[in-house]
Amino acid sequence: MTATTADYKHVATNKNLDHIPGSFGMPLVGQTFSLLKDFDGTIDRQVKQYGPVCQFRLTGFKGVLVLGPDIYQHILLDKERNFSAEMGYADSLGLFYRGALLLRDFDEHRFQRRMMQTAFKNNAMRGYMNDMAPLFDTAFEQWEKDPDFHFVPGIKQNLLDIAAKIFVGLSDMDGDAEKLNTAFHDISEGMMAIVKKEFPFGKFKQGKRGQRFLHAFFADLIEERRAGDGTDMFSHFTREKNEDGEYFSDEDIIRHMTFLLFAAHDTTTSTLSHIMYYLGKDQQLQQRIRDEVSALSKPVLDYEDLDTLELCDAAVKEALRLHPSVQLQQRRTIRECELGGYTIPANTIVFLAQSYHHRAPELWSDPHRYDIDRWLAPRSEHKRHSFGFIGFGGGAHKCIGMHFALMNSKMFLHQFLSRYRVTLSPKATHQFNTIPLPKPADGLPLIIEKL
Ligand code: HEM
Repeated sequence: MTATTADYKHVATNKNLDHIPGSFGMPLVGQTFSLLKDFDGTIDRQVKQYGPVCQFRLTGFKGVLVLGPDIYQHILLDKERNFSAEMGYADSLGLFYRGALLLRDFDEHRFQRRMMQTAFKNNAMRGYMNDMAPLFDTAFEQWEKDPDFHFVPGIKQNLLDIAAKIFVGLSDMDGDAEKLNTAFHDISEGMMAIVKKEFPFGKFKQGKRGQRFLHAFFADLIEERRAGDGTDMFSHFTREKNEDGEYFSDEDIIRHMTFLLFAAHDTTTSTLSHIMYYLGKDQQLQQRIRDEVSALSKPVLDYEDLDTLELCDAAVKEALRLHPSVQLQQRRTIRECELGGYTIPANTIVFLAQSYHHRAPELWSDPHRYDIDRWLAPRSEHKRHSFGFIGFGGGAHKCIGMHFALMNSKMFLHQFLSRYRVTLSPKATHQFNTIPLPKPADGLPLIIEKL
């Protein structure tokens, strides 16, 4: 039986999980504080004590933590349509991003995803690359003058400027870019609010204000963009039509745009920050990657160059293996099913923590080491299991922006390493945060020298 009807969306989440081994941790907050303090350690302890299918609770959620590439393959490929992403995320991302691509299921999801693909095709990507290149150069010129440069805030701002231009089509002159950034920041704060109610001065209210601003902002611009010839993602969405010649609804465009800003930004900030940490620490590795990008002998990458940069590609994936930007994926069962030998009742939240098997010694040799060669022939360790690495997810909801993210990262590495040498500042603490965003805890102080 397949479930394409909406009936499963109107049923409360199941919390009766006494037959699953484990403990829900502290009342109400469960494992939340432990995860905040030490994400991987918490997951490791759970598995050691209770096994790879165990009870798990975050603030506001009770569910089952499941671990391992076989189970993830089963859930993410979801051949029997047992798992709802929309309901899995309804009470977290759904509070701000209802109707976004990740919060749609099955046929409805496939339809929306097909419509969105135009914005990720080759020609669109070429356009983004042209617009992106000068924005890196502008940022680098500011960074090189800063004696106390910290990479995390630097790249965060740079990627926001890139998003304003490439995703939304705003020019440097627009004060709108700043307002967009503020709204985006407010939503990120709102998502972290412990109390999900709009109390005056509360973070959740601040997030909701940001969300309302973004919705109104995009709504006001749709007609103008549709009539224009813009090459930004937003313009692509406004002009895209389905097989019946109908445009995306305004509501769909708005929901997709607000989510794209979120989905693209923190993830890429996190990935580039980890890469730069390892390159700042290992000059030999940095030089190897510099040799790869410099061999192209051009100031800016062309689209055709992207597939040739195998060391850059490995550097990105290796950073995501050790520090996955999406720490916990969530689904909710639609009907009773079996996972790892346990019966999981209908409407149960399942949590997937990819970092656990990204560090499993049976899949990766010397798994805690940042080692880009594991991705290259002859080792090719990622081929040991097709779901051994799921930094970009897998199955129907696999990241639609994966090629964009790889392009963005490779362009950054190419332009930066051809011009600069970077070393970790003696102030670096070598500590990492994982929640809400995996990143170097000290903001990554770097010393940048022009070559
Ligand atoms: C390093 C950067 C990125 C990482 C690590 C990443 C990771 C992921 C992961 C793990 C998922 C699957 C979530 C799940 O199944 O629960 C996902 C989905 C998604 N990502 Fe990314 N992402 C990145 C960049 C981007 C960019 C640049 C965009 C847009 C330009 C984007 C847009 C999306 C969207 C729209 C989805 C939902 C896809 C669907 O439901 O069909 N992501 N991403």
